[in-house]
Amino acid sequence: MTNEIAGSSTPRVLSGIQPSGVLHVGNYFGAIKQHIEHQARFPGEAFYFIADYHSLTTVGDAQTLADQTQGVALDYLALGLDPAKATFYRQSDVPEITELTWILSCVTGKGLLDRAVSYKDKVQQGINASVGLFTYPMLMAADILIVRSTMVPVGQDQTQHLEITRDIAGSFNSAYNTDLFPMPDTLLNDAAIVPGIDGQKMSKSYDNAVPIFATEAEIKAKVKRVKTSSAAMGDPIDPDTDTVFQLFRLFGHPDEVEELRNGYVAGEIGYGKSKEMLRNVMSGYFEPYRARREELTHDSDFVEDVLQEGAKRARAEARITVDRVREIVGLSSASRVGAAK
Ligand code: ADP
Ligand code: TRP
Repeated sequence: MTNEIAGSSTPRVLSGIQPSGVLHVGNYFGAIKQHIEHQARFPGEAFYFIADYHSLTTVGDAQTLADQTQGVALDYLALGLDPAKATFYRQSDVPEITELTWILSCVTGKGLLDRAVSYKDKVQQGINASVGLFTYPMLMAADILIVRSTMVPVGQDQTQHLEITRDIAGSFNSAYNTDLFPMPDTLLNDAAIVPGIDGQKMSKSYDNAVPIFATEAEIKAKVKRVKTSSAAMGDPIDPDTDTVFQLFRLFGHPDEVEELRNGYVAGEIGYGKSKEMLRNVMSGYFEPYRARREELTHDSDFVEDVLQEGAKRARAEARITVDRVREIVGLSSASRVGAAK
């Protein structure tokens, strides 16, 4: 995939995460973990942002939005996001994104958005059916295309949004006979859908989530509530349909995962023991990151500097795209001068 403007074939990674609640282990294994891994694989070419414009579709309170945005920044930095390798910014610090959203919306058929399932799901959950919620995928396409990214690591639930993005990029390219926008690929990892404690997809909005930085007491209470089958003591348990196992395999060492699998199948391990194992691995897993998070909460200047510096880098890239887009569609002074000749 080539990056026409930069004139290079370097792959570019981009992803965003909404500050619409406390980040949970589904976000971690579905998205954040690979974001951190990709920063080393694509140094200088990984762009991650806090999608605060998107969260306006669901978060109506200013203080809550500001606090949650700060929380996401702290979580990412504590979990290993390295601003020397990745560009990390707040979406709303790059207003060029909203300009591109408008221009892209003028080459996008309304029918494309009518087919978006996440809008219907959200309205069904009781979220206000605003125009912003409806055009959410347009804003997401602009996020991705504004830095001309080629790879987007996300969880399974975002695959339709990526299809929509490719459609939009294709519409723009063909409407203006250009190959400005590359077609971004979706990158899924093997934890594409992490179950919540009720066995459904873990989500901030379903009261089934375990926060990444949950306290010991929270972990204990959540694990206790993990839904199990009615298998009696000594009955075999099918690991592949068991939520305790599905969660354990994300956290446990492969040997321990094997031990639990075999114990279940042989009827030697029941839910009491498996939940205890899950509690232990969950408590230990994020322990090394806690101290760093705590430190960062006392250094909000550092966090702000990282976000400002990231916004500067992202804006520089965004400006290149928007200037080119303006020229292509006839909005720039360059194209006006051309037309006058
Ligand atoms: P939520 O559903 O909790 O609101 P978001 O929609 O903000 O989460 O998702 C942020 C990122 O985390 C996205 O890339 C999404 O695909 C991923 N993600 C969210 N929940 C899960 C899950 N249960 N399993 C895997 N990935 C997930
Ligand atoms: N819609 C994504 C989610 O809910 C968040 C997001 C916004 C995003 N813009 C993006 C993800 C661009 C990847 C790329 O999880």
